[in-house]
Amino acid sequence: MINIALPKGRLGEVVYDAFEKAGYGCPQIHENSRRLIFESEENGVRYFWVKPSDVAIYVERGAADIGVAGKDILLEYEPDIYELLDLDVGKCRMAVAAKNGFRYDAGRTLRVATKFPNIARNFYNEQSRDIDIIKLNGSIELAPILGLSDVIVDIVETGTTLKENGLSVVETVVPISARLIANKVSYKFHHEAILALSEKLAQCMQKKSEESK
Ligand code: PRP
Repeated sequence: MINIALPKGRLGEVVYDAFEKAGYGCPQIHENSRRLIFESEENGVRYFWVKPSDVAIYVERGAADIGVAGKDILLEYEPDIYELLDLDVGKCRMAVAAKNGFRYDAGRTLRVATKFPNIARNFYNEQSRDIDIIKLNGSIELAPILGLSDVIVDIVETGTTLKENGLSVVETVVPISARLIANKVSYKFHHEAILALSEKLAQCMQKKSEESK
């Protein structure tokens, strides 16, 4: 049995469909229930619905053998796991944004509000820019509007949240998408099963991208 941590929510549903198409379905999962664990003995898989930002913790500590996590979470927490596959879903980007018309002032410490302090610090370290990180937990867009920060480092998907709040992208930090990750010990001991699953998922993705051409 392979234990799989999936991110609860819309992304998780898209990802589960890919697993199902790859031959790892678990029919009970479609039942409208609040259960968090589903298994299919026939297909040798057990799924857990996990809060998206917690998937990497389950996988790193071995509570799940594999899982699906956003690249944002992997860059922020740097979990000790293997990244096996870019699933090409959940696509967005990590970006610096500010009030429309903002320009960097090299003479002042830049105040950066973010849910991703590690990503923001690494990004500005590379530019040797002096920054003050303000760690927030959500609604980051409020910070520059209320003068709490000069810029934000946050996820931008459609750009609607920025636009509706009078903000715009200053620069892109990194593109983001969902990744298939594996626990290092599980990868060693269930190597064939995990590799087979990863390859089948990759084939399904290839087929999907050819069909959409
Ligand atoms: C994310 C992100 C932005 C928004 C971007 O927020 O922090 O606020 O989505 O999406 P858009 O470019 O399509 O508008 P999330 O919904 O996760 O909420 P929170 O960060 O405010 O908690």
